[in-house]
Amino acid sequence: MRLPILLLLVATAASASDLDWWKTALIYQIYPRSFKDSNGDGTGDLNGITEKLPYLHDTGIDAIWLSPIYRSPNYDSGYDITDYRSIQEEYGTMEDFERLLNVSRSLGIRVVLDFVPNHTGNESEWFNRSIAGEAPYNEYYVWADGLNATYDNGTVYTKPPSNWISNFRKSAWEFNEVRGQYYLHQFVIGQPDLNYRSNYVQEAMKNVLRFWLDKGVSGFRVDAVNKLYEADPNNYGGVYPDEPLSGAANAGPDDYEYLSHIYTENLLETYDVVYSWRDVLDEYITSQGEYKIMMTEAYAALQLMIRYYGTSTRNGSIPFNFSFLGDINKNSTAWEIKTVIDRWMTYMPSGRVANWVIGNHDQSRVANRQGVDRIDAMNMLALILPGVTITYQGEEIGMEDGYVSWNDTQDPQACNTDDPINYYLHSRDPNRTPYQWDSTAHAGFSNTTGSTWLPVADNYLTLNLAAQIANPKSHYHFYKDVVTNRKSPAIQEGDLDTRALSESILVVTRLLPGEAGMLGVVNLASEAQTIDLTSLRLLPSDLEVVASGVNCALEKNATLTKSSIPVSGHCALLFRSGVVSYGGAASTHYLSYPLILLALASYTIIRTNFS
Ligand code: NOJ
Repeated sequence: MRLPILLLLVATAASASDLDWWKTALIYQIYPRSFKDSNGDGTGDLNGITEKLPYLHDTGIDAIWLSPIYRSPNYDSGYDITDYRSIQEEYGTMEDFERLLNVSRSLGIRVVLDFVPNHTGNESEWFNRSIAGEAPYNEYYVWADGLNATYDNGTVYTKPPSNWISNFRKSAWEFNEVRGQYYLHQFVIGQPDLNYRSNYVQEAMKNVLRFWLDKGVSGFRVDAVNKLYEADPNNYGGVYPDEPLSGAANAGPDDYEYLSHIYTENLLETYDVVYSWRDVLDEYITSQGEYKIMMTEAYAALQLMIRYYGTSTRNGSIPFNFSFLGDINKNSTAWEIKTVIDRWMTYMPSGRVANWVIGNHDQSRVANRQGVDRIDAMNMLALILPGVTITYQGEEIGMEDGYVSWNDTQDPQACNTDDPINYYLHSRDPNRTPYQWDSTAHAGFSNTTGSTWLPVADNYLTLNLAAQIANPKSHYHFYKDVVTNRKSPAIQEGDLDTRALSESILVVTRLLPGEAGMLGVVNLASEAQTIDLTSLRLLPSDLEVVASGVNCALEKNATLTKSSIPVSGHCALLFRSGVVSYGGAASTHYLSYPLILLALASYTIIRTNFS
């Protein structure tokens, strides 16, 4: 009878981690085109990713999120999908994907896919059937008749259904000759928007989720989620209402920022769709014994973001926290960074999971946005704060934006400026350049005899993974050391305390009674400073350095006390403290040891004397 109970306990313990993994997951974003090219065609691919999984395992990554791997003509680097259920040929085959999944699983790395629900690509079969007016595809997209208008000279012409502007500039409407109507595209012309007022679309997209869940993926990153719905013409006299001017300085009539997007984003209907996807993901918890993560991408006001988490009765997603991307920069003070951290923690509904994003394929690299001197600081903060951490490929070695000439530019956001001089201000190509593995040709990314899909950044000879692995004082080793300590109970579950001791010193503590505490210290200034943390009364005094950033004089394993900590300029340090004992269970537990012993002794004496 004992064995089954034991087995049951073991099984329960295993499934507990499979159910909770997502709450503190370290997720590594892979941009497949630029990660590793296995077949020498200059473009990254699935087999290249599989080849590098041991590296990610060694680094301590829990899950990888793959930017789109589906068939696509690449008008927007794969976010214009022809077929949600097939693999882009230049990335490999479905068998390659399944092998990637199996190898990941054997290494304990989960695979999260990109789900792009707002739009398909214009080569999609759905779109072609919609153009042809074939039911039910006829209602899959947002179609509308043009409006009649008259020039000053009296000539009559047809104009788009509304003044809406694409995120990538110019009208968000494109006329289709065959259907004789305009279709909406919030991004490039090749990305027709799906119509979420159609139940057929809702169901079709749920089935896309099921297709990949059936293969065993561990969840999804959901693209551009706040663009799912547009104002319903039935509420506006049968037309799509014009959006008001934003009044934004420097925005011309073709620029997205020219309008206030009150009818094309953040519509309240969106949340229910996200919650309904959560229900689909939850269908798999029992059958696959694993919780499926959903992280949603929206650049929106905080109050709108946190609603994605769910309500008191419904679960939703983890809304990406982009505050480190948009709300701080290389001049931000410790006061400002603390405020940004605290704001998310304050607004996040209780019991939900926080998350920290410091980079992605749409934003300049941390080195460029926050400055080279803050690479370790930003990586450490993202890794030691509560919840999920997302690392964009290359941030662990502090890659920098590469130079991409106008001729080499691929990003539609830059190409659509039609401006060979200032295009770079809008381009996302510099932060998508190939991963810098080593100092060999093409940075070890590809062995092509031609060119890579985007040029490799010039600095790869010195800034590359191999060089950093060989150098114990590198961004990579610091990152890895922090990741190792991220697995500590204090960082997994401990209470959070953030303090700005001055304009330049930021201190983050994670304390869990009965466990060693963890303390992150960042000096944002160039001058060395010695800090006194005796005001952190619950933090034990004895500290040991467990991760030391590239600018720090204090080395790993150094021990010191909290009253005097020397911190070099631009240094990020992670310390482990002695065991924390305060309040709650642990201190009661320790205090009660003598009482328990006393009780046991008396009981033994009484039993001995009276039996
Ligand atoms: C957000 C993606 O991250 C970005 O790369 C893409 O261009 C747009 N959504 C459109 O899918």
